[in-house]
Amino acid sequence: MDKANPRLSKTRQKKIISLVSQYWQRMTIAAVCMIVVAGANGAMALLVKPVMDDIFIKQNREMLLLIPGLAILVFFLKGVGSYGSEYLMNFIGEKIIRFFRDALYEKITDLPIAFIHKEKTGALMSRITNDVNIVKGMVSNAAINLFRDFFSVVAFLFVIFYRDWQLALGAFIVLPIAFYPIVLFGRRVRKFSTGTQVTMADLNSFLHETFTGSKIIKIFNLQAFEKERFKEKTRELFRLEMKKVIAKALSSPVMEFLGGIGIAFIIWFGGMRVINGTSTPGTFFSFLTAVMMLYDPVKKLTKLNNTIQEGIASATRIFDVLEETSTIPESTTPVILEKGPFDVQFDQVSFSYSPKDAPALKNISLRVAPGEVLALVGMSGGGKTSLVNLIPRLYDATGGSVKVAGIDVKDLSIASLRDHIAIVTQEPILFNESVRENIRYGKMDATDLEIENAAKAAYAYDFIKGFPKGFDTVIGELGSRLSGGEKQRICIARALIKDAPILILDEATSALDSEAEGVVQKALENLMKGRTSFVIAHRLSTIDYASRIVLLKDGEICEQGTHDALMKLEGEYFKLQTLQAIKP
Ligand SMILES: Nc1ncnc2c1ncn2[C@@H]1O[C@H](COP(=O)(O)OP(=O)(O)OP(=O)(O)O)[C@@H](O)[C@H]1O
Ligand SMILES: [Mg+2]
Repeated sequence: MDKANPRLSKTRQKKIISLVSQYWQRMTIAAVCMIVVAGANGAMALLVKPVMDDIFIKQNREMLLLIPGLAILVFFLKGVGSYGSEYLMNFIGEKIIRFFRDALYEKITDLPIAFIHKEKTGALMSRITNDVNIVKGMVSNAAINLFRDFFSVVAFLFVIFYRDWQLALGAFIVLPIAFYPIVLFGRRVRKFSTGTQVTMADLNSFLHETFTGSKIIKIFNLQAFEKERFKEKTRELFRLEMKKVIAKALSSPVMEFLGGIGIAFIIWFGGMRVINGTSTPGTFFSFLTAVMMLYDPVKKLTKLNNTIQEGIASATRIFDVLEETSTIPESTTPVILEKGPFDVQFDQVSFSYSPKDAPALKNISLRVAPGEVLALVGMSGGGKTSLVNLIPRLYDATGGSVKVAGIDVKDLSIASLRDHIAIVTQEPILFNESVRENIRYGKMDATDLEIENAAKAAYAYDFIKGFPKGFDTVIGELGSRLSGGEKQRICIARALIKDAPILILDEATSALDSEAEGVVQKALENLMKGRTSFVIAHRLSTIDYASRIVLLKDGEICEQGTHDALMKLEGEYFKLQTLQAIKP
């Protein structure tokens, strides 16, 4: 496969070794089991000789009972050893899978959202679902191959040389010719396998995208285009699969033929020795059995390197995630926030999503007094969402500082900070749980009554009651039945129930019609009393009650003041207002 053999750093190797070595007792028993299997394999080949020479040729009746008895014993031992080693090695492997899955999930859940955006959700998911399996393969299958197959090879070689070393020397000049193609064909098949895996993954994401986006495809009349794109992919898959089929289908006849040459040599040379009287038929057949049984473990051992390489590649991907350091670190001496209300202050804050992006916020200085309602307005892309995201430390300011209750948010305990902030995000996000549980996310110990009251306050109670199972309806069961406004109202209920001193509403009512918006707005206004609130809105009519309006443009504060003051200014805010007023 790949020529550049990947390697794991010393610390990563140590981590895996220390993980595996926790199970050293099981490993030892497994190794003993594997040696038993290998021994039984060798014994089977050995037994062929007495069967031939004593039972068939000498017609010894004692042996007629003894040998079948021995055969039963050998097969029994092999079975026990095989079960024991499979069970134990897979036990260890599955433990490792579980360890890495849990560790990855914990890590990813704690990492900042910037990391998840950067890595792509699908790729992160495949760390937890696929990569861990491949690492398991490396640890348990490679160990099984190494021990069981290696010992089996040793056992067969022992039988071969023990039975007839001269024939063995002869055979070892011929046999490698038969075994080498296993390696060659194996490589080819693997090459095409990786190719098909990549294409399959591509096909999967294509299907996911086009099925979820089927509405757009239909509306824009892109069926023919998408069908052609899909056909291109299946065509490529067909091509790779056929190459794999050819490599696979050719490999066994070619190998059998070459093996046949080897066997022919053994029959010729060994047969001659039997006819000359230097060997017996039993010796010959025992020898031949061992040679034939050698094939399987040799084949498996040639795959060993590949399993290890794949495992290392996956382990590297896993460790890369596990060793990722958070760009939003918890302070070493975290301060716990006491009871609100608090003021929120931006002190010459600048922010960019990444060093190569243009700054989303530039030199923002702003103080919002405890209990004040601040409205943020401005053109799309002005930086409103970016600004409020800095308060709960979803991102950290690149320059300047954000302070809550006079303390830099970086010095606060992250959990305590977020405990004091309720947020309705711009895209309504609901989980596939019951409506009740979705609202409960705002306050895990909320009673059913509190949940229903929050739903009432968000004007969500009536439509929720109308669902098939009311509050117990699972979001997924509703499919796409939930309208944008309904989703928003459930999200508002979730934020309301949290009862936090800092409230952030990012376009919380944008999907509601004017009438519903008016009602929900009244409820929100009541709620904002006594809370430091940030309200982002495009529809300016919904924020004219705010004590202060800040207009963001290109990441900078462009204007601020009350509605009346800004209107008098006849600047940007005035322009926005008049633009909206003339709309039908
Ligand atoms: N995750 C992100 N990565 C990189 N750039 C981003 C990201 N999110 C937003 N931006 C950029 O930052 C700038 C400000 O975006 P922001 O979402 O804060 O604007 P907004 O005022 O909330 O706009 P809207 O009214 O459309 O919601 C935009 O130029 C946007 O493209
Ligand atoms: Mg926004």
